[in-house]
Amino acid sequence: MDAKEISKAVIKRLPRYYRYLGELMEEKVERISSNDLSKKMHVTASQIRQDLNNFGGFGQQGYGYNVKYLYHEIGKILGLDKTYNLIIIGAGNLGQAIANYANFERRGFVAKVGIFDINPVLEGISVRGIEIRMINSLPEFIRENQVEIAILTLPKNKAKEMAKVLIDNGIKAIWNFAHTDLDAPEDVIVENVHLSESLMALSYNLSQYRNEHTEK
Ligand code: NAI
Repeated sequence: MDAKEISKAVIKRLPRYYRYLGELMEEKVERISSNDLSKKMHVTASQIRQDLNNFGGFGQQGYGYNVKYLYHEIGKILGLDKTYNLIIIGAGNLGQAIANYANFERRGFVAKVGIFDINPVLEGISVRGIEIRMINSLPEFIRENQVEIAILTLPKNKAKEMAKVLIDNGIKAIWNFAHTDLDAPEDVIVENVHLSESLMALSYNLSQYRNEHTEK
């Protein structure tokens, strides 16, 4: 099935299925029913069946889901069966924290990482074995390593200008942490991440809960 036909809501839930199935594999569970998966994930069994039916089901009546198979199929849908070279632009607090986040490699889709900054004090410092490079070597690094993904963790007022440089040098996807919208052509995928939005959702849910439970 064409992935474009699948609703965004379903795509958003796939990483969670992937994570739970990964845990089941670690526990050596070979198959699981939608009911058991439902209890584990706190999602209704019918939601699970509906979601997974989008991809041809993968389940068998009376058998449930083959955990390993489903894990790999969802991985393929999420593009995790490929490897990508990626770069981090801005080796400050956030850039270094992301570089330190070992789970990317555990997921298996990151082949090579480069970290770039403009601050000469940082040049050559190693973050988990990855050396911080100066920004003037960026175009060459992208070319030589066929880098497709860039992570933007630099100041907001530098992000648009940097996105242009990245796109001009062939970057195909940007994971943007700077709090600004980027101008990118249709063939460049931008995913914005704002931790503060998640915190606002948390604070909203907390105040909703309190309102509902104090009125009575
Ligand atoms: P930081 O000040 O520790 O690091 C920024 C780094 O970018 C510095 O090392 C600086 O030298 C470098 N830099 C500046 N101009 C550059 C350029 N043109 N090219 C390459 N590197 C350049 O800041 P921090 O705390 O790491 O935050 C980075 C960015 O991420 C900020 O824009 C911040 O607002 C944003 N942020 C976003 C979050 C989110 O949830 N989206 C959460 C936390 C921070």
